[in-house]
Amino acid sequence: MALQTPPLPLVQVLQRRRDRLAQLHPRPVVLWSGQPVARNFRANTYPFRANSHFLYFTGLTLPRVAIRLDQGQLTLFMDDASPESALWHGPTPTRETIAAEIGAIAAYPYQAVEGYLAEAATLPGQGGHNPDLGPDHSPALVEALVALRLYHDDQALGQIKAAAAVSMAAHRAGMAATPGATTEAQVRAAMEQVIIAQGMTCAYNSIVTVHGEVLHNEQYHHALAPGDLLLADVGAEAPSGWASDITRTWPVSGRFSPAQRDLYDVVLAAHDACIAIAKPGVEYRDLHLLACRTLAAGLVDLGVLRGHPEDLVEHDVHALFFPHGVGHLLGLDVHDMEDLGDAAGYAPGRHRSDRFGLKFLRLDRPLADTMVVTIEPGFYQVPAILGPARQSGQYDETVNWARLADFHGVRGIRIENDVQITPTGCTVLTAALPTQAEALEALVSAA
Ligand code: GLY
Ligand code: MN
Ligand code: MN
Repeated sequence: MALQTPPLPLVQVLQRRRDRLAQLHPRPVVLWSGQPVARNFRANTYPFRANSHFLYFTGLTLPRVAIRLDQGQLTLFMDDASPESALWHGPTPTRETIAAEIGAIAAYPYQAVEGYLAEAATLPGQGGHNPDLGPDHSPALVEALVALRLYHDDQALGQIKAAAAVSMAAHRAGMAATPGATTEAQVRAAMEQVIIAQGMTCAYNSIVTVHGEVLHNEQYHHALAPGDLLLADVGAEAPSGWASDITRTWPVSGRFSPAQRDLYDVVLAAHDACIAIAKPGVEYRDLHLLACRTLAAGLVDLGVLRGHPEDLVEHDVHALFFPHGVGHLLGLDVHDMEDLGDAAGYAPGRHRSDRFGLKFLRLDRPLADTMVVTIEPGFYQVPAILGPARQSGQYDETVNWARLADFHGVRGIRIENDVQITPTGCTVLTAALPTQAEALEALVSAA
């Protein structure tokens, strides 16, 4: 029996990350956790979430903390809580306690960081969390952070899996709650209840909607009708900040109609085709294009599109129904490191295409061991896209509009899983939540 190496204590994991940063970026670095943001007045704030780059090296979820990293050594800057703060917030750990916990070599009051900025590289903005100290926004630091955070260590993978497990339970709860629910809000509540009860938070605003064609729908008031498909894109974030991101689409009635089922299986074929070839060295853009061709081929088989899948994709006809990219990086952020623009998503020298079928592709790099990505193809009937496309007459040869009408009311389908690239292939971290239509029907009907 192979002996399992016990996991490293967190403080050692953090130290390794700092040492690796020092190798990639010899200059000192200053990072801030951020400040709570007022919701409507100062004492009523949005839930605080520490900056992800800061979290990566500290594991600390506290506001108003800064760190300086120099040759792998961490200096901590934070204030001890004032005596009156205990009245409102209870006792909090002291600077010295935190410093010992995370392996700091020295610890000073928060404002003292101002004296340590000379020569240090920092990041732009951090969502407005940086004090206005005229930081030097360093492209070299961005490059080093991307080189580190693209590939996940065991601690990170363990946390993503923990978040994914809770997300899967939330989706099961959503399916089970559907027969007894009358609105989207009730299903959302059943799903988020699982996440909250596990001491986690949502990694992003949940999408739970019978209007899945609105890609980032954040309304939950619609009534559920028996003929609707419900699209739920709900993902948990572990207390450590690591994220997960799952979408399932299921029939409110517990049975897909034949038209819904036909389109669902086309999206599933696109999803499965990507998973089947994902491995180190494969270009993520090629996964996207494979999903597009599989979708186009399925729509040709259903009589909705006419032509060769390759040509249809070449001319972006598939994008009328699948206008977004097949997925993105996943890590401490649900779209990992998108605060750095496309620096993480796009390999050096690569830039976004302006093609309709490619401009929303968030990731264009070769896959590599320990990367985690989502695979999330979809089919949508977006009136704002299909209306003008039909009116233009431009697609009359390639789209059979009359046949498309048979699928009227199938507004949005997406299937999304979290995928870890392994040395020889990939592991679907969210595979324990089924994607097969019958399995989803069983989970809804079993309620
Ligand atoms: N949940 C956001 C996304 O799937 O990209
Ligand atoms: Mn996603
Ligand atoms: Mn998602």
